[in-house]
Amino acid sequence: MSPTKAELIAEALETGTLRGLPSGHFIGGQFVDAASGATMECFDPGTGAVFARFAAGDADDVDRAVGDAARALTGEWQRATPAERGRILGRTAELIRQHADRLAVAEALDSGKRLVEAEADVRSAARTFEYYAGAADKLEGISLPLGPDHVGMTIEEPVGVAVQIVPWNYPLSTAARGVAAALAAGCTTIAKPAEQTPFSTLLLAELAFAAGLPAGAFNVVTGTGRQAGAALVGHPGVNHITFTGSVPTGIDVMQQAARNVTRVALELGGKSPLAVLADCDIDTALNGVIEAIYENAGQICSAGSRLVLERSISENFIDRLVGRVGKLILGHGLRNPDVGPVISWSQLEKIERHVAAARAAGNAILAGGAVAHPSNSGSGWFFEPTIIAARAFDDPIVQEEIFGPVLTVQIVDDLDEAIAAANCTDYALVAGIYSRDLSKAYRFARAVDAGQVYINEFFAGGIQAPFGGNRKSGFGRAKGMEGLKSYCKLKTIVARI
Ligand code: NAI
Ligand code: MG
Repeated sequence: MSPTKAELIAEALETGTLRGLPSGHFIGGQFVDAASGATMECFDPGTGAVFARFAAGDADDVDRAVGDAARALTGEWQRATPAERGRILGRTAELIRQHADRLAVAEALDSGKRLVEAEADVRSAARTFEYYAGAADKLEGISLPLGPDHVGMTIEEPVGVAVQIVPWNYPLSTAARGVAAALAAGCTTIAKPAEQTPFSTLLLAELAFAAGLPAGAFNVVTGTGRQAGAALVGHPGVNHITFTGSVPTGIDVMQQAARNVTRVALELGGKSPLAVLADCDIDTALNGVIEAIYENAGQICSAGSRLVLERSISENFIDRLVGRVGKLILGHGLRNPDVGPVISWSQLEKIERHVAAARAAGNAILAGGAVAHPSNSGSGWFFEPTIIAARAFDDPIVQEEIFGPVLTVQIVDDLDEAIAAANCTDYALVAGIYSRDLSKAYRFARAVDAGQVYINEFFAGGIQAPFGGNRKSGFGRAKGMEGLKSYCKLKTIVARI
């Protein structure tokens, strides 16, 4: 009998770890140690303590994984029909659901996120496999109107060996959306989870293999970005790289990929605006703003980190917001508080630095603003939910991504100013607006530069909705049928008849 959710939570809280976590890479359908034998430590952000070790991969492990992925591509996986590929993805979705409790508890322990959020991520991973299971045999090309003497068509072929460089904020769901789409397209794939959060990707690979995926079709190499990540993105046997993470690392990945002319999709950061207009439903907007910035302790590329607020309601709205935010409870993710820890000591320091600089520059701290030490959480990494009134739109607190529970407020007088404020950074990932006037909301949606715009519900959507950024937020789209196409290469065939 597998342990219940309550037993898993109790085990993690009482012993500080979980039994039976994998410790090797997943290559060629099995767990293997690093060729060098090296391992590294993984931390529980809620306590700051080490809870497990995992393989520290390097170029040798990457070579082995790329070799296995390339062999799988020309073997059984190539011979599988799209419908057969779909069935295996569908079975993977079922297995994710069967093992949801263990996946969620492991994810919460590893990433620090609240258990309810980890559970939602597991549901989303299962939905992703289910969605791409259904899409695998619906990848159609077109016929080309060339006239009576020719027959022309396009076909979508798998791009080949596809690499996923996965960040630590949504380890399972980010890995799932890349891996499921790549496999549905007929690619084989290698995921490199962040060194802070390797376990859910390893558990996912084990489940996909149990669902019938051939050996080598989905491999996981763990380790640091500098060693394992860099070896993967520079490997000539790799045909596509999906990178999600910071702008500087994204630039580096693109440069390494350029040497082999490897395709890349980059999903980088954001400083996403959330406009709240005077005519909105205030209670809905308050809930929306709080979720947009404090979910996952603000560590979301698409977090609504800039509140763009219409002046006529600003005083009342900010009063109520500050009141609500002051009551949010911090704690260990497995205890389901309102806000969990941030991922690491260095991320906590980075947040503290940004807030200290904002304070020193004369921006007003309206709530929070300091490192926190909730009881029950050892020396975990916590920052108080923070609100800062921006002094000017070009202040670094408005311009720079913080990736923590820090909301910046910009006051505007009307819709045109809200649009200008929304577009005032180099990022263009998402934007949100709360308004009862749908023509204003759509005008905002059309005028704002962003990969996606949310109206009256931040983070609205699902796996059907394509997701990605513009400008410094990157390019390429994950999710939806667009996400599937990014793992395809188009071939045109024309015959003279
Ligand atoms: P990062 O961008 O360096 O790490 C993301 C992933 O890239 C990890 O798997 C890492 O191991 C890998 N990586 C690092 N260097 C690499 C290289 N040279 N070649 C190939 N892969 C490499 O981000 P990091 O250092 O974890 O966080 C720094 C900042 O990045 C955060 O404070 C946050 O602002 C931002 N970030 C944004 C994310 C997003 O979802 N857009 C996710 C994580 C971080
Ligand atoms: Mg961890």
